Amino acid sequence: MQNVLIDAYGRRISSLRISLTNRCNLKCIYCHNEGEEDSGSEITVEEVAQIARICARYGVDKIKFSGGEPLLRRDFDEILRALPPMRDVSVTTNGTLLAARAESLKESGLDRVNVSLDSMDRDRFTFITQCKGQFDKVLDGIDAALSVGLTPVKINMVYLKGINEDEVDRMIDYVRGKPLVLQIIELMNFHGAFKYHADVASLEQRIKEKADKAVCREMHRRTKYYLGGAEVEIVRPIDNSEFCMNCNRLRITSDYKLKPCLLKNDNLVSVRGLSDAEVEAVLIKTVGAREPFFKSETAKVCQPYKIYEP
Ligand code: 5AD
Repeated sequence: MQNVLIDAYGRRISSLRISLTNRCNLKCIYCHNEGEEDSGSEITVEEVAQIARICARYGVDKIKFSGGEPLLRRDFDEILRALPPMRDVSVTTNGTLLAARAESLKESGLDRVNVSLDSMDRDRFTFITQCKGQFDKVLDGIDAALSVGLTPVKINMVYLKGINEDEVDRMIDYVRGKPLVLQIIELMNFHGAFKYHADVASLEQRIKEKADKAVCREMHRRTKYYLGGAEVEIVRPIDNSEFCMNCNRLRITSDYKLKPCLLKNDNLVSVRGLSDAEVEAVLIKTVGAREPFFKSETAKVCQPYKIYEP
């Protein structure tokens, strides 16, 4: 029988989310930086290969790379080539550096990309990212990903009050008829950006009414809606115990620590410098102690919005 990594809530780890760096070339006003605080030196090719190899023995078949901006890692191709066979390897990127690298990343084993794009308006994009001259690079990056087959390309749009609430239809039109999926994401408050929090529940209601079809995914209990050839997913992490109850991912920080939950930083376990056997033992223990952040009861008590504020 296949060994598995499972916690006391019956949640089996089937996917890894590995942060490759804390560095980013954009300064998005809301960014949670994957819940990471300052970190030490960046995870190496060998460390990524080690954790992937060990987790693969337990049936983990999916890896997502994130950051910071993972494409700032010049050795990203090398990292991809060092992985054991996986069912799905993807990266979440801001897309600014993607155009030139899409083809070689595909050749190195990357299956698909998620690109953050919160607005189709250049000025709004500049405001959100606090960086000029990047918008067209992102669109070029998405085109390159489509042309080399890093698909489906998921477009992450964080829904922001007073900034892009009126752009949902435009974004839906943008993804329609292409191997693109629009993911509309509810803002989580990590850096006091909560003034931009917009009500995703009522948006979802409107989308539902217009949809031809809806399919519920187990992961995070997300529903995917189909609107005349456009695929749209709504991601609502806040006050959503289902978000946690089906969570099947283990995070690895950019300084090679196991991070069992996006929303917590008091339970990180460093595995740097350990042998395969030692990492394996720590992994089993850490996964065994995993707890959902939003248990139906505690969700009401712990307001996640507060946890990263000074
Ligand atoms: N709330 C919701 N999603 C966030 N992301 C980053 N910060 C936040 C936040 N505060 C997500 C966005 C982005 C990806 C890198 O992380 O979806 O596309």
